[in-house]
Amino acid sequence: MTDFLQKLRAPIGHLPESGIVELVNYGREREGLIPLWAGESDFPTPDHIMAAAISSMKVGETTYTYQRGIPELRQALARYHTRLYGQRFEMDRFYVTGSGMQAIQIAVQCIVGEGDEVIVPSPGWPNAPAAIEIAGGRPVPVPLHFSDGRWSFDLEAIAAAITQKTRAIFINSPANPTGAVLSREELLQLRDLSRRHEIWICADEVYGRFFYDGDVAPSTLEVFEPDDLLLVLNTFSKNWAMTGWRVGWIVAPPQLGQVMENMVQFSTSGVPIFSQRACVVALDEGEMFLKHQIDLATRARDLIVEGLRQSNRAIVARPGGAFYLFFGVDGETDSRALALRLVDEANVGLAPGSAFGPGGEGYLRLCFAGSLERLEQAVERLIPALK
Ligand SMILES: Cc1ncc(COP(=O)(O)O)c(C=O)c1O
Repeated sequence: MTDFLQKLRAPIGHLPESGIVELVNYGREREGLIPLWAGESDFPTPDHIMAAAISSMKVGETTYTYQRGIPELRQALARYHTRLYGQRFEMDRFYVTGSGMQAIQIAVQCIVGEGDEVIVPSPGWPNAPAAIEIAGGRPVPVPLHFSDGRWSFDLEAIAAAITQKTRAIFINSPANPTGAVLSREELLQLRDLSRRHEIWICADEVYGRFFYDGDVAPSTLEVFEPDDLLLVLNTFSKNWAMTGWRVGWIVAPPQLGQVMENMVQFSTSGVPIFSQRACVVALDEGEMFLKHQIDLATRARDLIVEGLRQSNRAIVARPGGAFYLFFGVDGETDSRALALRLVDEANVGLAPGSAFGPGGEGYLRLCFAGSLERLEQAVERLIPALK
């Protein structure tokens, strides 16, 4: 019998299954299950955003299109960032991708080759290290700090992990799953590290709008200059309940325009025009929906934190950003077994901390985006199952 896995390029056949997807596959068919394992709400995409895609399809926009993204969307991205950060952004810094995940893939493929190292704070979302491994690189985990009930990045440890082989620091702030947020001062330190060592910063800022100590989380875009070694990765998925649309964007130096165009052409060959039309509406006319989502998440954070504390076993840290609670359960050390049990006994789907790399074991991740009713019900089911 042919060993097909052996016939593949080295890292590919041996990539572990995503520990999040494993849980989803285990429980997705359960009747009445409350799925809080993935990073999405229970809201559909708003009607006025969907309407733009439908009209676009109806007028025949079903062809190939611009590889960098349609000009209207790149302009809308420039307007959105200008509004958000109070400084002028030009459209030639924005490139449309087929999801935030593809933005990560492209960034990593542009930078990382065989034997290269990329520093990745851990615990963290597993897809970035997986993309680095697929490219032949080595993710170098650096532990996050946990103190005073909050997770934070350890800039000293990140600096100490830089070697001759380091090509990039991959940073996700606000972070999935811990909610850690880089302060403006820490972003400046990161920028100085990048300049001093001539290494790239890949900044995954998909949760930038879900920030609980102000309007928008501090961004690399505010402290880096356009000619710094910076790629910012983002998505339409989270802000506008568009996880199924698969559209994201990269903010990159305009000099990389041709490279970005090539990377899209030689992978997906572009993002559907009709999806992009919907994204223009999301950016220009989606603020009310987004503010409502942020308001709900702010209330959900309190609801979940207070609710789980009632179990007397949950060890709960209040996240500063993103929409996840990453909590421990006293006496439980096998998060995968616990998450499987909670599917069976509480009919609630959570992601096991072990899926998030070194430092994640012993925790569970709960997504608190979406309606409060659903979360209240989840808490009611979780408390007895955890007691
Ligand atoms: C930290 C982080 N980055 C990027 C993404 C990618 O989102 P998408 O591929 O849906 O655009 C996610 C999705 O969960 C995420 O949590």
